Amino acid sequence: MKKSIGAKTIVFPTPVWLVGNYDQDGKPNAAVVAWGGICCSTPPCVAVSLREATYSHGNIVRRKAFTVNVPSETYVKEADYFGIVSGREEDKFSTAGLTAAKSELVDAPYVQEFPLILECKLLHTFELGLHTQFVGEIMDVKADEVVLGKDGLPDMEKVKPIIFAPSVRTYHGVGRFLGDAFSIGRRT
Ligand SMILES: Cc1cc2nc3c(=O)[nH]c(=O)nc-3n(C[C@H](O)[C@H](O)[C@H](O)COP(=O)(O)O)c2cc1C
Repeated sequence: MKKSIGAKTIVFPTPVWLVGNYDQDGKPNAAVVAWGGICCSTPPCVAVSLREATYSHGNIVRRKAFTVNVPSETYVKEADYFGIVSGREEDKFSTAGLTAAKSELVDAPYVQEFPLILECKLLHTFELGLHTQFVGEIMDVKADEVVLGKDGLPDMEKVKPIIFAPSVRTYHGVGRFLGDAFSIGRRT
């Protein structure tokens, strides 16, 4: 029998993404979001939710752009730091020893050391309550060559993204391969 545990933000998996943005002085900043995901195929879109209280929120509203930066497992400590401290108080890139690179297509920085980056133009803003959902159109995906598979696309096992478990606030790596999607379930 299932046990009801109430209306909570618990679902698995949630991502650990750094959302890159510039402040009003052009200082690069980023915040961690776990509340995010792909939300449209055409145009290609991704949604991230941020509280108004974050520094990133105002920065994204002003610049109408953000990046989604996918850290690999080796950057778990740096990633967590970006989710604990505000860019209002510290220059997070410099403290963490990470490089803020200039995006080609949008007005937001990306994390040079992370293997997978999305450059996003702000398309929609939805006030949901505590969080504002920012929907960005993905203008480009950039990936380090070392994480590309034979098909030329990012390979999840090479990217080694971090997974967040919101119920207990822990970080995890990607698990084992189970099968091919749109294929393993075929009945004929
Ligand atoms: C694992 C993790 C997930 C987080 N997810 C979110 C999120 O989805 N939305 C949000 O507003 N804050 C989230 N935070 C908190 C922000 O990253 C944090 O408030 C950060 O300091 C904001 O930075 P800023 O003020 O420079 O924008 C998360 C923090 C951690 C550690």
